[in-house]
Amino acid sequence: MADTPNVTVLRETKLTRALHTAIRDKAASRHQFVTASNRLTRLLIEEALALLPSEEVTVETPCGPYAGCRLPDEERICAVSILRAADCMLGEVRAMMPSVAVGKILIQRDEETALPQLLYSKLPPDIAARPVLLLDPMLATGGSAVAACRLLAEAGVPPESIIFVNVLCVKEGLQAMASAFPAVRVVTGAIDPVLNGSKYIVPGLGDFGDRYFGT
Ligand code: PRP
Ligand code: URA
Repeated sequence: MADTPNVTVLRETKLTRALHTAIRDKAASRHQFVTASNRLTRLLIEEALALLPSEEVTVETPCGPYAGCRLPDEERICAVSILRAADCMLGEVRAMMPSVAVGKILIQRDEETALPQLLYSKLPPDIAARPVLLLDPMLATGGSAVAACRLLAEAGVPPESIIFVNVLCVKEGLQAMASAFPAVRVVTGAIDPVLNGSKYIVPGLGDFGDRYFGT
């Protein structure tokens, strides 16, 4: 997107469309929702990892040299979950990289005003020196993600070290992020057209956390 250049949208394939179809279908069972969103999360995390700085290395195969590259060690990376819904994504991140450092930020969107309320945070003390994967499946108004980035900035994390990993967003949320934190990179599964009067994404998928956790 020209006005939000730091945004990577997952390349659409039949597989990604099928996964989106499963999570958007209001008749999907919780098993179908959890399975499809976990699979999408893995694709998004792989896409985000590919944006990290890499080092050129040559290794020896049993048959000769191979010029490759190495991404940062997983112990250096910090995944930060915007609770509650992003814990759905954190499970997949930890299955892929068990020794990743973890931070948690509890932000709840007020049901009447849709404004974010910061309730709790716990971050690794050396987070400022780590690449950060900031996780939240939904980016609607952008209020929650911007509040989380503000907290990370206060903890000393340079915005260019943050990759916001997201299942579904709207342009309004991307623009809110780009104007508050232009250097933060965003990896998303899809950009939907609009928000409704209650600030839900349309067509979207409803409340991600409620559907994942069955609340
Ligand atoms: C959802 C979602 C985001 C936020 C997005 O969380 O997971 O954090 O809303 O909306 P925004 O871009 O307008 O801020 P919610 O606060 O509903 O809580 P949950 O994680 O418990 O589902
Ligand atoms: N949070 C959700 O879970 N869904 C939306 O559409 C917007 C915010």
